[in-house]
Amino acid sequence: MEGFAGKVAVVTGAGSGIGRALAIELGRSGAKLAISDIDTEGLAETEEKLKAIGVHVKADRLNVAERESFVAYADAVNQHFGKVNQIYNNAGIAHSGDIEICHFKDIDRVMDVDWGGVLNGTKAFLPYLIESGDGHVVNVSSVFGLFSVPGQAAYNAAKFAVRGFTEALRQEMITAGHPVGVTCVHPGGIKTAIARNATAAEGLDAEEMAKAFDTRMARTSPERAARIILDAVRKNKARVLVGADAKVLDAVIRLTGSGYQALFLSVLRRVTPPSHP
Ligand SMILES: NC(=O)c1ccc[n+]([C@@H]2O[C@H](COP(=O)([O-])OP(=O)(O)OC[C@H]3O[C@@H](n4cnc5c(N)ncnc54)[C@H](O)[C@@H]3O)[C@@H](O)[C@H]2O)c1
Repeated sequence: MEGFAGKVAVVTGAGSGIGRALAIELGRSGAKLAISDIDTEGLAETEEKLKAIGVHVKADRLNVAERESFVAYADAVNQHFGKVNQIYNNAGIAHSGDIEICHFKDIDRVMDVDWGGVLNGTKAFLPYLIESGDGHVVNVSSVFGLFSVPGQAAYNAAKFAVRGFTEALRQEMITAGHPVGVTCVHPGGIKTAIARNATAAEGLDAEEMAKAFDTRMARTSPERAARIILDAVRKNKARVLVGADAKVLDAVIRLTGSGYQALFLSVLRRVTPPSHP
């Protein structure tokens, strides 16, 4: 893959899954990398893989929910490389359970990471991306930013917020004449640790839920997801649907409007464990 030679790219949540695959694919295509994660072990593994292919990499522990740390981190990355071209706001978590049984703290946690992390990363890096003369913001939403399902309200709320924010940002960059592309990413089921890392409300079987995700829903490899995302970045696409499942789901939603809710309920009952005890 070509097209990113000499660019400085920032990837959050780079210690696993899509973030790791993005970092490696970016490195292979000539970019310099600032990678971060809250999980330092996973991050060190990604750093090693990048060094093994000769990539200039800066690796830091960063909790994307901590705004002040993120702002200081943006400054440090810019100082280290002398510029920043791209940010991939990728870090994310999930929590399962109906709203009725979820605690406020668990809903807040998902919002703070999945939505707050994207807000913090975009705002902290935007001045540097504009200054670079060739910037790009890539925000990872989900197909759950296109439609909602029972048991994922916090995740749905965060991913819908990412989509709304990112679509506004793209129009603002165009209106202001800023040299910053903006892409919103909507993956379908990707074979990563997301479900295994997820928590669940009391009374629910988180392990059974993760197993259902791994065996019935995750279809696309993170490496393929990364290639699809980077292809969309290269073309400065506003939106990228990752995986055949994401494309089919998007088409059904556009065809049925709010009718998808009744339709999906009957399907979900058969393929996923219940989200209430
Ligand atoms: N896997 C899927 O099917 C899928 C589908 C749609 C969207 N997504 C989104 O893709 C993104 C990447 O997820 P993934 O599937 O690779 O999952 P993953 O669990 O394999 O990787 C997520 C990474 O984010 C890190 N992280 C979690 N909280 C963090 C925090 N507060 N600060 C910094 N890093 C943190 C984790 O340590 C982990 O390394 C997420 O935003 C996720 O919501 C995934």
